[in-house]
Amino acid sequence: MTENSFIHRFEPATGAGSSPLLLLHGTGGDENDLLGLGKMISPGSAQLSPRGRVLEHGMPRFFRRLAEGVFDEEDVRRRARELGDFVADARQRYGIAAPIAVGFSNGANIAAALLLLKPDVLAGAILLRAMVPLSDPPKAELDGKPVLLLSGQADPIVPPNNSARLAALLSESGASVSHRVLPAGHQLSQADVTLARDWIGNAAAEAA
Ligand code: MLT
Repeated sequence: MTENSFIHRFEPATGAGSSPLLLLHGTGGDENDLLGLGKMISPGSAQLSPRGRVLEHGMPRFFRRLAEGVFDEEDVRRRARELGDFVADARQRYGIAAPIAVGFSNGANIAAALLLLKPDVLAGAILLRAMVPLSDPPKAELDGKPVLLLSGQADPIVPPNNSARLAALLSESGASVSHRVLPAGHQLSQADVTLARDWIGNAAAEAA
């Protein structure tokens, strides 16, 4: 691992043929948070789960923000590069294919930034309560990459027009986006788990 390494957990695959998952926690979470969710979504998958390296009042995050929903975009770019390098190193070390990101909140936002800035890092993404991470992203070539975006109708952090803009941005960049707005807030619900599990099953069947 390089000096860019992240504290992380890695759980090897227990089933053949399922994409590895890159689990990206929300603000104040850590590398343990989403392992249970990952297992529910795709039980046989390898799981790579880093801890965000930015601290906000002691709470780990994946990039700096200036205020709620206002991002330090230079830091978003830098941290997306670092995370991309970490994933490349981890793929070699653990012998895994390009992962599908499963990101929640701040973790979903860095996953969206990775898609836009370093499209080769991810095979696809499940973005839970994500918002547009960059005001002026470069034109990405997402080339049919599958993306599931699950938003909350009553999310106090992500306004509906913001998640709609993210869905449009990813689609215009060539991703194959499925966007569902759930009767939920910022927190996850059982519907998120069910939809993510069905979606990843279909994505795997299409890739086979
Ligand atoms: C962010 O800062 O990435 C978003 O506001 C989501 C959050 O972490 O609350």
